[in-house]
Amino acid sequence: MKSTRHLETLAIHAGRVGDPSFGSLSTPIHQTSTYVFDNVAQGASRFAGESEGFIYSRLGNPTVRELEQRVAALEGAEDGIAFASGMGAVAAVIFGHLQQGDHLITSKALYGCTFALFTEDLARFGIEVSFLPEVNANTVAAELRPNTRMIYLETPINPTLEVIELAPIMALAKQHDVLSVVDNTFMTPVLQRPIELGADLVLHSATKYLNGHGDVIAGIVCGSAEAVTNLRGGPLKTMGAALGPMDAWLIIRGLKTLPVRVERHQSNTEHVAQWLRQHSQVGNIYWPGFKEHPGHSLIGTQMAGPGALIAFELNGGYDAAVAMMNAVKLCRLAVSLGDAETLIQHPASMTHATYSPEELAEAGISPGLIRLSVGLEHHEDIVADLAQALAQAQQETLAARPSAA
Ligand SMILES: Cc1ncc(COP(=O)(O)O)c(C=O)c1O
Repeated sequence: MKSTRHLETLAIHAGRVGDPSFGSLSTPIHQTSTYVFDNVAQGASRFAGESEGFIYSRLGNPTVRELEQRVAALEGAEDGIAFASGMGAVAAVIFGHLQQGDHLITSKALYGCTFALFTEDLARFGIEVSFLPEVNANTVAAELRPNTRMIYLETPINPTLEVIELAPIMALAKQHDVLSVVDNTFMTPVLQRPIELGADLVLHSATKYLNGHGDVIAGIVCGSAEAVTNLRGGPLKTMGAALGPMDAWLIIRGLKTLPVRVERHQSNTEHVAQWLRQHSQVGNIYWPGFKEHPGHSLIGTQMAGPGALIAFELNGGYDAAVAMMNAVKLCRLAVSLGDAETLIQHPASMTHATYSPEELAEAGISPGLIRLSVGLEHHEDIVADLAQALAQAQQETLAARPSAA
Protein backbone atom coordinates (compact mmCIF):
# COMPACT_ATOMS: atom_id res chain seq x y z
CA MET A 1 0.00 0.00 0.00
CA LYS A 2 3.06 2.27 -0.13
CA SER A 3 2.33 5.46 -2.04
CA THR A 4 4.08 8.71 -2.73
CA ARG A 5 0.83 10.65 -2.39
CA HIS A 6 0.33 13.12 0.47
CA LEU A 7 -1.36 12.02 3.67
CA GLU A 8 -4.32 14.38 3.15
CA THR A 9 -4.99 12.69 -0.20
CA LEU A 10 -4.50 9.15 1.10
CA ALA A 11 -6.95 9.85 3.94
CA ILE A 12 -9.66 10.45 1.32
CA HIS A 13 -8.76 8.10 -1.53
CA ALA A 14 -6.38 5.30 -0.51
CA GLY A 15 -7.52 1.70 -0.62
CA ARG A 16 -10.85 2.51 -2.19
CA VAL A 17 -13.03 -0.56 -2.77
CA GLY A 18 -15.79 1.70 -4.04
CA ASP A 19 -18.99 0.75 -5.78
CA PRO A 20 -18.42 -1.00 -9.12
CA SER A 21 -22.20 -1.49 -9.59
CA PHE A 22 -23.55 2.08 -9.48
CA GLY A 23 -20.50 4.31 -9.08
CA SER A 24 -21.66 5.98 -5.87
CA LEU A 25 -19.06 8.41 -4.54
CA SER A 26 -19.52 7.24 -0.97
CA THR A 27 -18.47 3.67 -0.29
CA PRO A 28 -21.52 1.40 0.13
CA ILE A 29 -22.16 -0.18 3.51
CA HIS A 30 -22.09 -3.87 2.67
CA GLN A 31 -24.48 -4.87 5.43
CA THR A 32 -24.23 -8.58 4.88
CA SER A 33 -23.10 -11.49 6.99
CA THR A 34 -22.38 -13.87 4.12
CA TYR A 35 -21.60 -13.98 0.37
CA VAL A 36 -23.21 -16.19 -2.25
CA PHE A 37 -20.85 -18.50 -4.16
CA ASP A 38 -21.40 -19.31 -7.85
CA ASN A 39 -20.72 -22.95 -7.13
CA VAL A 40 -19.11 -25.29 -4.62
CA ALA A 41 -15.72 -25.15 -6.32
CA GLN A 42 -15.63 -21.36 -5.95
CA GLY A 43 -16.57 -21.53 -2.26
CA ALA A 44 -13.99 -24.24 -1.63
CA SER A 45 -11.22 -22.33 -3.39
CA ARG A 46 -11.95 -19.20 -1.34
CA PHE A 47 -11.83 -21.23 1.87
CA ALA A 48 -8.54 -22.76 0.72
CA GLY A 49 -7.14 -19.28 0.06
CA GLU A 50 -6.65 -20.17 -3.61
CA SER A 51 -8.87 -17.43 -5.00
CA GLU A 52 -9.90 -13.91 -4.04
CA GLY A 53 -13.38 -13.06 -2.83
CA PHE A 54 -15.38 -12.69 0.33
CA ILE A 55 -16.69 -15.65 2.29
CA TYR A 56 -18.30 -14.49 5.51
CA SER A 57 -18.13 -11.08 7.22
CA ARG A 58 -16.23 -12.28 10.30
CA LEU A 59 -13.34 -12.99 7.92
CA GLY A 60 -13.70 -9.95 5.69
CA ASN A 61 -16.20 -7.46 4.28
CA PRO A 62 -15.78 -4.97 1.39
CA THR A 63 -16.57 -1.88 3.50
CA VAL A 64 -14.26 -3.05 6.28
CA ARG A 65 -11.63 -3.85 3.65
CA GLU A 66 -11.62 -0.27 2.41
CA LEU A 67 -10.99 0.95 5.95
CA GLU A 68 -8.17 -1.56 6.44
CA GLN A 69 -6.47 -0.59 3.19
CA ARG A 70 -6.83 3.12 3.88
CA VAL A 71 -5.33 3.02 7.38
CA ALA A 72 -2.51 0.78 6.09
CA ALA A 73 -1.72 3.39 3.42
CA LEU A 74 -1.69 6.14 6.05
CA GLU A 75 0.66 4.12 8.27
CA GLY A 76 2.95 3.21 5.35
CA ALA A 77 2.20 -0.48 5.95
CA GLU A 78 1.59 -3.26 3.44
CA ASP A 79 -1.79 -4.16 4.89
CA GLY A 80 -4.21 -3.66 7.77
CA ILE A 81 -6.86 -5.62 9.65
CA ALA A 82 -9.78 -4.19 11.60
CA PHE A 83 -11.21 -5.42 14.91
CA ALA A 84 -14.32 -4.71 16.94
CA SER A 85 -12.36 -2.57 19.44
CA GLY A 86 -8.89 -1.33 20.21
CA MET A 87 -8.66 -4.03 22.87
CA GLY A 88 -9.73 -6.58 20.24
CA ALA A 89 -6.71 -5.43 18.20
CA VAL A 90 -4.36 -5.59 21.20
CA ALA A 91 -5.61 -9.06 22.19
CA ALA A 92 -5.31 -10.35 18.60
CA VAL A 93 -1.70 -9.19 18.37
CA ILE A 94 -0.84 -10.76 21.72
CA PHE A 95 -2.64 -14.08 21.27
CA GLY A 96 -1.71 -14.27 17.59
CA HIS A 97 2.00 -14.02 18.35
CA LEU A 98 2.74 -15.23 21.87
CA GLN A 99 2.54 -18.61 23.49
CA GLN A 100 3.16 -20.22 26.84
CA GLY A 101 6.73 -19.65 28.01
CA ASP A 102 7.26 -16.45 25.98
CA HIS A 103 8.41 -13.14 27.43
CA LEU A 104 7.07 -9.66 26.64
CA ILE A 105 8.71 -6.30 27.44
CA THR A 106 6.58 -3.19 27.94
CA SER A 107 6.31 -0.04 30.07
CA LYS A 108 4.86 0.31 33.58
CA ALA A 109 2.42 2.97 32.46
CA LEU A 110 0.05 1.81 29.71
CA TYR A 111 -3.61 2.16 28.81
CA GLY A 112 -5.42 0.54 31.78
CA CYS A 113 -7.07 -2.38 29.95
CA THR A 114 -3.85 -3.23 28.09
CA PHE A 115 -2.17 -3.32 31.51
CA ALA A 116 -4.95 -5.60 32.81
CA LEU A 117 -4.53 -7.94 29.82
CA PHE A 118 -0.77 -8.08 30.42
CA THR A 119 -0.97 -8.57 34.19
CA GLU A 120 -4.05 -10.74 34.64
CA ASP A 121 -4.57 -12.67 31.41
CA LEU A 122 -0.99 -13.27 30.27
CA ALA A 123 -0.07 -14.69 33.68
CA ARG A 124 -2.90 -17.25 33.27
CA PHE A 125 -1.44 -18.30 29.93
CA GLY A 126 2.11 -18.63 31.25
CA ILE A 127 3.52 -15.60 29.45
CA GLU A 128 6.04 -13.51 31.40
CA VAL A 129 5.91 -9.71 31.22
CA SER A 130 8.57 -7.16 32.21
CA PHE A 131 7.11 -3.74 32.98
CA LEU A 132 9.91 -1.18 32.69
CA PRO A 133 9.68 2.06 34.69
CA GLU A 134 11.78 3.77 32.04
CA VAL A 135 11.89 2.56 28.46
CA ASN A 136 14.93 3.20 26.27
CA ALA A 137 17.30 1.04 24.22
CA ASN A 138 19.50 0.41 27.29
CA THR A 139 16.72 -0.63 29.66
CA VAL A 140 15.17 -2.83 26.97
CA ALA A 141 18.54 -4.43 26.10
CA ALA A 142 19.12 -5.21 29.78
CA GLU A 143 15.74 -6.96 29.97
CA LEU A 144 16.07 -9.14 26.84
CA ARG A 145 15.94 -12.87 27.58
CA PRO A 146 16.29 -15.91 25.31
CA ASN A 147 12.48 -16.26 25.39
CA THR A 148 11.69 -12.57 24.69
CA ARG A 149 9.28 -12.53 21.74
CA MET A 150 7.70 -9.09 21.79
CA ILE A 151 8.30 -5.45 22.74
CA TYR A 152 5.01 -3.59 23.10
CA LEU A 153 5.04 0.21 23.45
CA GLU A 154 2.77 3.23 23.60
CA THR A 155 4.25 6.63 22.86
CA PRO A 156 3.27 9.10 24.18
CA ILE A 157 2.17 6.85 27.03
CA ASN A 158 -1.45 6.96 28.21
CA PRO A 159 -1.88 8.89 30.53
CA THR A 160 1.57 10.13 31.62
CA LEU A 161 2.51 11.44 28.15
CA GLU A 162 6.08 10.16 28.51
CA VAL A 163 7.66 9.82 25.07
CA ILE A 164 9.70 6.74 24.11
CA GLU A 165 12.36 7.02 21.42
CA LEU A 166 11.30 4.28 19.04
CA ALA A 167 14.02 3.90 16.38
CA PRO A 168 16.84 2.50 18.61
CA ILE A 169 14.43 0.10 20.32
CA MET A 170 12.97 -1.07 17.02
CA ALA A 171 16.52 -1.66 15.71
CA LEU A 172 17.36 -3.65 18.83
CA ALA A 173 14.21 -5.73 18.38
CA LYS A 174 15.16 -6.53 14.77
CA GLN A 175 18.68 -7.49 15.83
CA HIS A 176 17.28 -9.97 18.36
CA ASP A 177 14.43 -11.22 16.18
CA VAL A 178 11.84 -9.84 18.60
CA LEU A 179 8.50 -8.56 17.29
CA SER A 180 7.98 -4.83 17.94
CA VAL A 181 4.47 -3.45 18.36
CA VAL A 182 3.53 0.22 18.78
CA ASP A 183 0.15 1.53 19.88
CA ASN A 184 -0.13 4.74 17.82
CA THR A 185 -3.56 5.82 19.12
CA PHE A 186 -2.37 9.11 20.68
CA MET A 187 -0.39 10.31 17.66
CA THR A 188 -2.24 8.92 14.62
CA PRO A 189 -0.31 8.43 11.36
CA VAL A 190 -0.57 12.18 10.84
CA LEU A 191 1.99 12.78 13.58
CA GLN A 192 3.92 9.51 13.83
CA ARG A 193 4.44 6.47 11.59
CA PRO A 194 6.10 3.72 13.65
CA ILE A 195 6.49 1.33 10.67
CA GLU A 196 8.84 3.87 9.08
CA LEU A 197 10.79 3.88 12.35
CA GLY A 198 11.23 0.11 12.18
CA ALA A 199 8.17 -1.24 14.04
CA ASP A 200 6.77 -4.57 12.86
CA LEU A 201 3.17 -3.83 13.81
CA VAL A 202 1.30 -0.64 14.61
CA LEU A 203 -2.13 -0.67 16.20
CA HIS A 204 -4.87 1.78 17.06
CA SER A 205 -7.92 2.20 19.09
CA ALA A 206 -9.78 3.50 16.00
CA THR A 207 -12.44 4.58 18.50
CA LYS A 208 -10.32 7.70 19.01
CA TYR A 209 -8.87 10.12 16.42
CA LEU A 210 -9.20 7.83 13.39
CA ASN A 211 -12.97 7.95 13.74
CA GLY A 212 -12.97 11.19 15.67
CA HIS A 213 -16.68 11.58 16.32
CA GLY A 214 -17.28 9.57 19.47
CA ASP A 215 -19.77 7.16 17.90
CA VAL A 216 -17.82 3.95 17.21
CA ILE A 217 -15.70 1.39 19.08
CA ALA A 218 -13.06 -0.14 16.79
CA GLY A 219 -9.44 -1.23 16.48
CA ILE A 220 -6.96 -1.78 13.68
CA VAL A 221 -3.56 -3.41 13.24
CA CYS A 222 -1.18 -2.62 10.36
CA GLY A 223 1.99 -4.38 9.29
CA SER A 224 3.40 -6.68 6.65
CA ALA A 225 0.98 -8.51 4.35
CA GLU A 226 2.14 -11.77 5.91
CA ALA A 227 1.52 -10.62 9.49
CA VAL A 228 -1.95 -9.34 8.58
CA THR A 229 -2.84 -12.57 6.74
CA ASN A 230 -1.78 -14.51 9.82
CA LEU A 231 -3.99 -12.38 12.07
CA ARG A 232 -6.92 -12.87 9.69
CA GLY A 233 -6.49 -16.63 9.54
CA GLY A 234 -5.73 -16.80 13.28
CA PRO A 235 -7.25 -14.57 15.97
CA LEU A 236 -9.83 -12.80 13.78
CA LYS A 237 -11.17 -16.14 12.57
CA THR A 238 -11.11 -18.02 15.87
CA MET A 239 -11.54 -15.28 18.48
CA GLY A 240 -13.94 -13.34 16.31
CA ALA A 241 -13.65 -9.67 17.29
CA ALA A 242 -14.76 -8.57 13.80
CA LEU A 243 -15.73 -4.99 13.00
CA GLY A 244 -19.18 -4.42 11.51
CA PRO A 245 -19.55 -2.64 8.13
CA MET A 246 -21.58 0.29 9.49
CA ASP A 247 -18.85 1.09 12.02
CA ALA A 248 -16.18 0.74 9.33
CA TRP A 249 -18.11 3.17 7.15
CA LEU A 250 -18.30 5.73 9.94
CA ILE A 251 -14.52 5.53 10.40
CA ILE A 252 -13.95 5.82 6.63
CA ARG A 253 -15.99 9.02 6.81
CA GLY A 254 -14.03 10.22 9.83
CA LEU A 255 -10.68 9.48 8.20
CA LYS A 256 -11.32 11.93 5.36
CA THR A 257 -10.88 14.82 7.79
CA LEU A 258 -8.22 13.21 10.02
CA PRO A 259 -5.27 15.40 8.92
CA VAL A 260 -7.35 18.59 9.21
CA ARG A 261 -8.77 17.57 12.57
CA VAL A 262 -5.40 16.62 14.04
CA GLU A 263 -3.96 19.96 12.97
CA ARG A 264 -6.76 21.86 14.73
CA HIS A 265 -6.73 19.58 17.80
CA GLN A 266 -3.06 20.39 18.10
CA SER A 267 -3.27 24.14 17.58
CA ASN A 268 -6.09 24.29 20.14
CA THR A 269 -3.91 22.30 22.54
CA GLU A 270 -1.06 24.77 22.18
CA HIS A 271 -3.38 27.54 23.46
CA VAL A 272 -4.93 25.45 26.22
CA ALA A 273 -1.61 24.01 27.45
CA GLN A 274 0.09 27.42 27.57
CA TRP A 275 -2.89 28.88 29.44
CA LEU A 276 -3.03 26.01 31.95
CA ARG A 277 0.69 26.22 32.58
CA GLN A 278 0.56 29.84 33.75
CA HIS A 279 -2.48 29.26 35.99
CA SER A 280 -1.74 29.62 39.70
CA GLN A 281 -3.80 26.52 40.64
CA VAL A 282 -2.03 24.23 38.17
CA GLY A 283 0.99 22.28 39.40
CA ASN A 284 2.80 19.75 37.20
CA ILE A 285 1.70 19.72 33.61
CA TYR A 286 2.73 17.18 30.97
CA TRP A 287 2.59 17.89 27.25
CA PRO A 288 5.40 17.06 24.81
CA GLY A 289 4.98 20.50 23.23
CA PHE A 290 6.68 22.17 26.20
CA LYS A 291 10.43 22.65 25.70
CA GLU A 292 11.15 21.19 29.16
CA HIS A 293 9.28 17.96 28.37
CA PRO A 294 11.88 15.17 28.06
CA GLY A 295 10.27 13.98 24.81
CA HIS A 296 10.26 17.42 23.19
CA SER A 297 13.49 16.85 21.29
CA LEU A 298 11.84 14.04 19.29
CA ILE A 299 9.41 16.48 17.70
CA GLY A 300 10.54 16.95 14.14
CA THR A 301 12.19 13.53 13.96
CA GLN A 302 10.02 10.82 15.51
CA MET A 303 6.84 12.87 15.77
CA ALA A 304 5.58 15.68 13.57
CA GLY A 305 3.96 17.33 16.59
CA PRO A 306 3.18 16.98 20.30
CA GLY A 307 -0.41 15.79 19.96
CA ALA A 308 -3.53 16.98 21.71
CA LEU A 309 -3.53 15.21 25.07
CA ILE A 310 -2.50 17.06 28.22
CA ALA A 311 -2.06 15.61 31.71
CA PHE A 312 -1.82 17.85 34.75
CA GLU A 313 -2.13 18.07 38.50
CA LEU A 314 -3.60 20.87 40.59
CA ASN A 315 -1.80 22.35 43.58
CA GLY A 316 -4.88 21.42 45.63
CA GLY A 317 -4.30 17.72 44.82
CA TYR A 318 -6.99 15.09 44.47
CA ASP A 319 -9.85 17.09 46.05
CA ALA A 320 -9.23 20.08 43.83
CA ALA A 321 -8.99 17.82 40.77
CA VAL A 322 -12.34 16.19 41.56
CA ALA A 323 -13.97 19.59 42.19
CA MET A 324 -12.63 20.89 38.87
CA MET A 325 -13.74 17.87 36.84
CA ASN A 326 -17.20 18.06 38.43
CA ALA A 327 -17.46 21.75 37.50
CA VAL A 328 -16.81 21.63 33.73
CA LYS A 329 -19.75 22.65 31.57
CA LEU A 330 -18.59 22.82 27.94
CA CYS A 331 -15.90 20.15 28.32
CA ARG A 332 -17.40 16.74 28.98
CA LEU A 333 -16.46 14.52 31.92
CA ALA A 334 -15.92 11.31 29.95
CA VAL A 335 -13.24 8.77 29.11
CA SER A 336 -12.05 8.30 25.49
CA LEU A 337 -10.15 10.89 23.50
CA GLY A 338 -9.71 12.30 20.05
CA ASP A 339 -13.31 13.42 19.66
CA ALA A 340 -14.63 16.81 18.54
CA GLU A 341 -15.71 17.41 22.14
CA THR A 342 -13.06 18.27 24.73
CA LEU A 343 -13.03 15.36 27.17
CA ILE A 344 -11.70 15.46 30.72
CA GLN A 345 -11.24 12.45 32.96
CA HIS A 346 -9.54 11.07 36.07
CA PRO A 347 -7.14 8.23 35.11
CA ALA A 348 -6.63 6.85 38.64
CA SER A 349 -10.34 6.07 39.09
CA MET A 350 -11.37 5.66 35.44
CA THR A 351 -9.15 4.59 32.48
CA HIS A 352 -6.48 3.25 34.84
CA ALA A 353 -8.73 1.86 37.58
CA THR A 354 -7.23 -1.52 36.62
CA TYR A 355 -4.05 -0.45 38.49
CA SER A 356 -3.75 -0.93 42.26
CA PRO A 357 -2.76 2.20 44.25
CA GLU A 358 0.83 0.85 44.42
CA GLU A 359 0.91 0.13 40.68
CA LEU A 360 -0.43 3.63 39.96
CA ALA A 361 2.35 5.16 42.06
CA GLU A 362 5.01 3.04 40.32
CA ALA A 363 3.63 4.04 36.91
CA GLY A 364 3.73 7.74 37.83
CA ILE A 365 -0.05 8.16 37.78
CA SER A 366 -0.77 10.36 40.79
CA PRO A 367 -4.16 10.29 42.58
CA GLY A 368 -4.88 13.84 41.40
CA LEU A 369 -3.77 13.47 37.76
CA ILE A 370 -6.26 14.88 35.24
CA ARG A 371 -6.21 13.91 31.55
CA LEU A 372 -7.55 16.35 29.00
CA SER A 373 -8.27 15.50 25.36
CA VAL A 374 -8.51 18.89 23.70
CA GLY A 375 -11.36 19.00 21.21
CA LEU A 376 -12.31 21.08 18.20
CA GLU A 377 -14.34 23.80 19.91
CA HIS A 378 -12.89 27.33 19.74
CA HIS A 379 -9.85 27.38 22.04
CA GLU A 380 -11.10 30.50 23.85
CA ASP A 381 -14.31 28.68 24.79
CA ILE A 382 -12.35 25.67 26.07
CA VAL A 383 -10.13 27.96 28.16
CA ALA A 384 -13.16 29.88 29.47
CA ASP A 385 -14.75 26.63 30.64
CA LEU A 386 -11.55 25.42 32.30
CA ALA A 387 -11.20 28.85 33.95
CA GLN A 388 -14.69 28.72 35.46
CA ALA A 389 -14.14 25.10 36.58
CA LEU A 390 -10.86 26.04 38.28
CA ALA A 391 -12.54 29.03 39.98
CA GLN A 392 -15.31 26.74 41.21
CA ALA A 393 -12.74 24.22 42.47
CA GLN A 394 -10.91 26.98 44.31
CA GLN A 395 -14.09 28.11 46.03
CA GLU A 396 -14.99 24.58 47.09
CA THR A 397 -11.48 23.88 48.37
CA LEU A 398 -11.53 27.09 50.44
CA ALA A 399 -15.03 26.34 51.78
CA ALA A 400 -13.97 22.81 52.82
CA ARG A 401 -10.91 24.06 54.71
CA PRO A 402 -11.46 24.32 58.48
CA SER A 403 -11.57 28.04 59.37
CA ALA A 404 -8.62 29.47 61.32
CA ALA A 405 -10.95 30.97 63.96
C1 LIG B 1 -3.81 3.99 23.96
C2 LIG B 1 -5.01 3.10 23.89
N1 LIG B 1 -4.90 1.87 23.36
C3 LIG B 1 -5.94 1.03 23.29
C4 LIG B 1 -7.18 1.38 23.79
C5 LIG B 1 -8.33 0.41 23.72
O1 LIG B 1 -9.20 0.81 22.72
P1 LIG B 1 -10.80 0.51 22.74
O2 LIG B 1 -11.38 1.30 23.86
O3 LIG B 1 -11.22 0.95 21.38
O4 LIG B 1 -10.97 -0.95 22.95
C6 LIG B 1 -7.35 2.64 24.35
C7 LIG B 1 -8.64 3.05 24.91
O5 LIG B 1 -8.76 4.06 25.55
C8 LIG B 1 -6.23 3.53 24.41
O6 LIG B 1 -6.33 4.74 24.96
